[in-house]
Amino acid sequence: MIFWRIKPLDKILETAEKKSLKRQLGPIQLTLLGIGAVIGTGIFVLTAEAGQKAGPGMMVAFIIAAVVCALAALAYAELAAMVPVSGSAYTYSYGVFGEFVAWIVGWALALEYAIGAATVCVGWSGYMNGLLAANGIALPEALRSGPLSGGVFNLLAFLIGLAVTVLLYIGTSKSARVNAVLVAIKIAALSVFIALAIPAVKAANFEPFLPGGWGSPTGGVGVLGAAASIFFAYVGFDAVSTAAEETKNPNRNIPIGLIGSLGICTIYYLLVGYGAAGSVGAQPMLGADGLPIDPSSPAMVTACEGSQALVCSKEPLAHVMRLLGHARIGDWIGLAAIVALPSVILMMMFGQTRIFFTMSRDGLLPEPLSKVHTRFHTPHVITVITGLVVSISAALLPVGRLADTSNSGTLLAFAMVSIGVLILRKRQPERSRPFRTPAAWIVCPLAVFGCVVLFLSLTMFAKLFFVSWAVLGLALYSLYGYRRSHMAQAEAARP
Ligand code: ALA
Repeated sequence: MIFWRIKPLDKILETAEKKSLKRQLGPIQLTLLGIGAVIGTGIFVLTAEAGQKAGPGMMVAFIIAAVVCALAALAYAELAAMVPVSGSAYTYSYGVFGEFVAWIVGWALALEYAIGAATVCVGWSGYMNGLLAANGIALPEALRSGPLSGGVFNLLAFLIGLAVTVLLYIGTSKSARVNAVLVAIKIAALSVFIALAIPAVKAANFEPFLPGGWGSPTGGVGVLGAAASIFFAYVGFDAVSTAAEETKNPNRNIPIGLIGSLGICTIYYLLVGYGAAGSVGAQPMLGADGLPIDPSSPAMVTACEGSQALVCSKEPLAHVMRLLGHARIGDWIGLAAIVALPSVILMMMFGQTRIFFTMSRDGLLPEPLSKVHTRFHTPHVITVITGLVVSISAALLPVGRLADTSNSGTLLAFAMVSIGVLILRKRQPERSRPFRTPAAWIVCPLAVFGCVVLFLSLTMFAKLFFVSWAVLGLALYSLYGYRRSHMAQAEAARP
């Protein structure tokens, strides 16, 4: 049942060749593309979430998440160089595991991309609300966050989601030049932060180092809980693989882009985490039981009333600067986030529309979803549906819940890619591999192990949501894709 209706890799490559997008991206543009997709709400906002779960131990969480991503990136690089086509994990899974697993992975990628986009919308709104408030035009509290975070409807998160939907509808896609400028802005903001925060680090701020412990069997707390959330900060490097069809010499450049962007972001994140926790402290708000309060709960809102703690801030990097007496620079860092985060939303929503578009083209989702707009040449139906789901989720849910839910889908995709590398090594050893995952039989199992540990460390909400989403996906597949997919129809037509 698992290895079934496998789409031959040569056929996948053939389809890509037929479409032939112009190959124009080189290694530097690809690395910039990766950095552009990676640096976003994770580092700018979830640093506070990680601090609330792990205290200063969040620095260890940053390292754990980076290691899991690096292992998965090495696996991604092998498949991406071998099958340089769009569609990433979904397409690879079709070629390695067959339709059933491809469906599950595609369905999980919807969580990664759509809920990931919603996460970045909420992160953006935190900085935008901060900027408006600093200029005396604050929105009413009810419109500044969703119901679990002390408000009713996060208006700005909703509006930025809609604005990006409009851009995608009319066909604005990522332009390499705009991306390079936005990357420069983000890198500049993080560099200034590091330069000002690290000299202010005091050893006392690291005590106690692990107020939330290492984790709990149910997940959601401690260093592992923080690592499972902050994993979001690294997601996006796989965007590089989605550009495979537009890359010059993809076999060499895709691995450079994947690993290069992840490496640069990791260095920045570790320095930012160290600077934030060490300069102003990152001790969590504790409940009556002496344990850190769930950061996405109404209890957290109450505990944070009137507090200046880092873990309470919705714009933590700007907040740290203000606490250190650099109010102006805090505003500039906030502005950098406001300018640069929408491109991350765009990238993620773009990814979501293209995954469902490809699945619909494969007959796994109804055909009207892949209808292309006559004037704008965009998949407008799926874009509108995605846009509404993203905007409404962003308006109603807290950033931490969204990030964890998005991560659940990503972790599944990463694990499948890592397993896929090993299966292909066994099944098609002769196929050319321009990039080989080093020590694959150690790296890939470790990547899978890391993904499983992080998945189990997610909040219960995210795990339950993931299971419900998977059940819904299985029901849809058995009612629709199982019979209607193009592979199924080709099978039926065979004598
Ligand atoms: N890694 C991206 C972010 O943190 C998705 O926003």
